[in-house]
Amino acid sequence: SPPAAGAPERLPFSRVTEEDLAFFRKILPGRTITDPDLVESSNVDWLKSMKGSSEVLLRPQKTEEVSQIIRYCNSRNLAVNPQGGNTGLVGGSVPVYDEIILSTSLMNNILSFDSISGILTCQAGCVLENLSLYLEERDYIMPLDLGAKGSCQIGGNVATNAGGLRLLRYGSLHGTVLGLEVVLADGQVLDCLASLRKDNTGYDLKQLFIGSEGTLGVITAVSILCPRKPKSVNVVFLGCETYEQLLKAFQLCRGMLGEILSAFEFLDSECMRLLNTHLKLPNPISDCPFYIVIETSGSDPKHDAEKLHNFLEEAMASSLVSDGTVATEESKIKALWSMRERVTEALTHDGFTYKYDISLPLEQIYQLVIDMRQHLGGRAKSVVGYGHVGDGNLHLNITSSTKDPALLAAIEPFVYEWTASCRGSISAEHGLGLKKRNYIYYSKPSQAVGLMGNIKAMLDPKGILNPYKTLPDDVK
Ligand code: FAD
Ligand code: MLT
Ligand code: ZN
Repeated sequence: SPPAAGAPERLPFSRVTEEDLAFFRKILPGRTITDPDLVESSNVDWLKSMKGSSEVLLRPQKTEEVSQIIRYCNSRNLAVNPQGGNTGLVGGSVPVYDEIILSTSLMNNILSFDSISGILTCQAGCVLENLSLYLEERDYIMPLDLGAKGSCQIGGNVATNAGGLRLLRYGSLHGTVLGLEVVLADGQVLDCLASLRKDNTGYDLKQLFIGSEGTLGVITAVSILCPRKPKSVNVVFLGCETYEQLLKAFQLCRGMLGEILSAFEFLDSECMRLLNTHLKLPNPISDCPFYIVIETSGSDPKHDAEKLHNFLEEAMASSLVSDGTVATEESKIKALWSMRERVTEALTHDGFTYKYDISLPLEQIYQLVIDMRQHLGGRAKSVVGYGHVGDGNLHLNITSSTKDPALLAAIEPFVYEWTASCRGSISAEHGLGLKKRNYIYYSKPSQAVGLMGNIKAMLDPKGILNPYKTLPDDVK
């Protein structure tokens, strides 16, 4: 199939031969997949916007197998695309051409859990939701949560430095990941799988792999610090008339809820329209221009309820919010969360989706959505804004009935110039993958990009690991 739009030329990697397949089959009997019907779904990304033409899907179970595969591919100059749950949103998780797909799906064992420290060590292919369920039985939770939890894997989460719905409370994976085991491009196993809170013995190498999107090594195991399961969780769904009021509500909420605040998310009325239309999810409150999802997590239900009550009273009295509903019971909590978590899915039913994941100063977040609507006039089907307000992270999404290059040309570079003018980031949490790699200069100085290129060249001199991704085309 032809390369995806914007894809660079195929680099001169070797092509997979019968001899290569014989080698893979010897190491991975029954787990070297070449049936085109079975390889097909691993060639296509979650958004169905990218399609590779790989003919080989490898499914190792052990680190040693990954090491043997990578060592062999390096010696043969064969390109490799590491793949977890394939929920990535920037075209990083699927091949561009015929790269071998190395899936971690069968590397799904929990290796250890320390119920005193809360440190979990597991293989990279463990699905996030399975880890959450395992921990909940032990009175702990994962420090991250995202709408893709049912499919995404912890290795993929680390490789993309996924943010998600709990970052406001528990911080990023750069803080919660304590150790990693990584197979390097030459097949060496780098054992940085420490389970220590503190370790200042030299450079913190694991940090390099967090957010490296499969370009520097294959993550095979993760050690992560998990918080205790909160005894009391409440979710409120509120409506606001203006974005300014939403921000004031955030300020008030931070002050009044303090340490029990665990999420502050938003969606606009356009998102609500898509949830109603495509997923038949009814609005739990009256129609408003903006909606907020606030979650509190604490250790004392009475204390939390009192704090939440006081906050809601104050927010209503000062007219910051115009309507709202509270959930303490699990099924209602889930239902309210789905109004935020399922916006991504609702968008896929609306048409082809152009996704932007932007970090901006809080006051400017929604102005970008307004300016984009005005800039595009009637050219787009929907222009919606939602995201992690608490983290200064806007998800600006634009749909059209079908893929529309003219619309794309109207959106980009407008959106990136707008972002750079506020010193924002053109990728807050999804990464750069294939789609965003050439826009890196809007958020990073060329000196920093050059240094990234040097690191890539040192760790992967032949460039076999996830080629065409993350680094811009002018960095070789
Ligand atoms: P994949 O999609 O398989 O891969 C992603 C990247 O990581 C690719 O570049 C791949 O090569 C690399 N990779 C995967 N596994 C490894 C490994 N073991 N070693 C080295 N490289 C590897 N993201 C957020 O940040 N926050 C959100 O709130 C969020 N919500 C989402 C909601 C939905 C409905 C969807 C579909 C996606 C969402 N995402 C979100 C994006 C995506 O889920 C995350 O980026 C996730 O972390 C990817 O994990 P994965 O296992 O699916 O990785
Ligand atoms: C989210 O916060 O919902 C995710 O990052 C997915 C998306 O941006 O659609
Ligand atoms: Zn997000």
